[in-house]
Amino acid sequence: MRSAKLVWGTLAGVLCVGGSLFVFPAAGQAPPPAKPSPEMVAHIEAGNTQFQQKCAFCHGRDAGGGESGPDLTRSKLVHDDVNGDKIADVVRNGRPGKMPPFTLSDAEMADVVAFIHAQQLKAQKAGQRKGVDVSDLQTGNVAAGKQYFEGAGTCSKCHSATGDLAHIATKYQGLQLEEHMLYPRDAKSRATVTLPSGKVVEGQVEYHDEFTLGILQADGTYQSWPVKKIKYKIDAPQEAHAELFSKYTDDDVHNLMAYLQTLR
Ligand code: HEC
Ligand code: HEC
Repeated sequence: MRSAKLVWGTLAGVLCVGGSLFVFPAAGQAPPPAKPSPEMVAHIEAGNTQFQQKCAFCHGRDAGGGESGPDLTRSKLVHDDVNGDKIADVVRNGRPGKMPPFTLSDAEMADVVAFIHAQQLKAQKAGQRKGVDVSDLQTGNVAAGKQYFEGAGTCSKCHSATGDLAHIATKYQGLQLEEHMLYPRDAKSRATVTLPSGKVVEGQVEYHDEFTLGILQADGTYQSWPVKKIKYKIDAPQEAHAELFSKYTDDDVHNLMAYLQTLR
């Protein structure tokens, strides 16, 4: 297992998305010109690529909602967002237990934001919503899924089909299984903290932001410190799942699902 990157350290950064290129109409303003500039089209296309790699599994390929994430084209937060001022926070922090945090460069973030806004405009024009296709879950190939699990997917570095995941398909079914495979929401990170005195304590991370770290020790005591006063290391092996988003193809996900569904 390896340590996850400290994404929290980047939270203080202010999103800078490059001037008027990223000005989207706020509520009630005039619609944008019919033809977006070539620069804007390039940003939206780059954002599309990012979105398909990191977000589409949950929010759908067109951001219109998917198996485990809400429709972003109907999101009030997206509607109220100006140049990423709201979306970037959600993406960098994630939503505890629901969406993993992502580390994107400012340029990548700006592209993703451009794509989401473009999708929202499109959906508003079309005025329609697509449903979730549960039958998609049945289309994978078991053998290919097993191969991916043991090979390119690196799943077997941390999991075993006869060990921790032996009965995963009885624990979760269908979409629920896919959600947990894509992102294990209940998993907690662990921290090793070195206090100014040199004493080392370990525990489960209960609270962590750019100023404070709070952990729950095995004996049930909760302690927190200003991060400036301590040295610490966080181990969050489940964050590997967030990194895998950029690697899976749709086929990989469907094949993995077919394979995991045989583990009863
Ligand atoms: C593992 C599934 C998952 C992935 C991957 C994911 N999200 Fe989410 N996202 C969610 C869920 C679930 C919510 C709703 C959280 C809640 O109800 O608080 C959400 C909420 C959001 C919201 C806020 C919507 C609102 O109205 O509050 C935005 C914006 C968003 N996601 C953008 C993204 C972007 C951009 C990416 C890719 C970089 C991404 N998400 C990747 C599951 C995911
Ligand atoms: C670096 C380690 C690591 C890698 C690689 C990894 N996972 Fe995980 N996975 C975790 C951790 C940690 C959890 C949370 C453990 C828990 O909640 O029991 C988890 C949880 C899960 C769960 C939910 C288990 C449960 O009981 O709720 C599934 C399913 C899963 N992973 C499948 C996969 C698949 C499929 C892959 C490969 C595509 C993969 N994982 C790659 C570390 C990893």
